[in-house]
Amino acid sequence: MPADLPLDTVLDVLACPVCGAVLSRTHRTLTCPHGHAFDLARQGYVTLVSGAGSRFDGDDADMIAARERFLGTGWFAPLADALADEVVRTTPAGDAGTVVEVGAGTGYYLAHVLDRLDARGGGVPASRGVGLDASRYAARRIARVHERVGALVADGWSRLPLREGAATHMLSVFAPRNAAEADRVLTDEGVMVVLAPTPRHQRELIEPLGLVHVDAHKDERLDAAVAGRFVRDTQRSVEYAAALSRSDVAALVGMGPSTRHRTRDELAAAIDALPDPLDVTASVTLSTFRRA
Ligand SMILES: C[S@@+](CC[C@H](N)C(=O)[O-])C[C@H]1O[C@@H](n2cnc3c(N)ncnc32)[C@H](O)[C@@H]1O
Ligand SMILES: [Zn+2]
Repeated sequence: MPADLPLDTVLDVLACPVCGAVLSRTHRTLTCPHGHAFDLARQGYVTLVSGAGSRFDGDDADMIAARERFLGTGWFAPLADALADEVVRTTPAGDAGTVVEVGAGTGYYLAHVLDRLDARGGGVPASRGVGLDASRYAARRIARVHERVGALVADGWSRLPLREGAATHMLSVFAPRNAAEADRVLTDEGVMVVLAPTPRHQRELIEPLGLVHVDAHKDERLDAAVAGRFVRDTQRSVEYAAALSRSDVAALVGMGPSTRHRTRDELAAAIDALPDPLDVTASVTLSTFRRA
């Protein structure tokens, strides 16, 4: 018998990307009853896409490494806590919780959410999660972030390789959100949880470093995108300022593609010109959506 892998805890949630059937694992391969087969990567994740090659790009190796470094500073810990609060609050007592995160990055938020679900105690079965990302560098991190998180490379904008009604929550944290697929994949009582930046997010850095502005109409666009399938159930803002060193700022900037207007040297010079440390604002909207 093959040893248990984190992926095994969510096998019943996964669907063949070609035909939608259940998947089972034999050694390092997942197969469906129709003979479609998907090999596990050495690092423990599996790529579940249909057709030849992928048409989507996730974050590259440097961006994911910068994300891991920056999240390690704890600067976003209040966001992980606020997100976990929402998931715990919307998980019925006695339910384990099966949480999918689309665009999960390093799996930082998903692992924190599962830890908080399990901290409820009271004999509730262990929660589990699926971390899905277009980037294989992300999937490598996700595969080792938690013993009950399965890691997938998949496209968050396409049909997700997940079964109908399999998840209690679908999270999107600074990442793509796919309301049509949330509708298909969530249980009847399932909840979509979306964390998105406001225009005040990292405002102290936008001008000096030439970062991309957040669209002020993001909230309305989000409502429009889910309209007909989901209604916004709750919405709260989380905003705080906390000090960042110049090297923290460099990691933060390295996480994103927002630097395409400047060369590496120009950006380094702009970071060098910042006060060290500098108080920087985190400002997000945290919304929950339920079926309309
Ligand atoms: C801004 S990062 C957020 C990552 C993580 N949620 C966090 O906050 O740390 C966006 C993530 O979405 C992923 N991504 C981008 N396009 C995607 C797609 N079409 N499908 C799935 N993931 C995608 C990127 O690879 C990246 O990891
Ligand atoms: Zn199949």
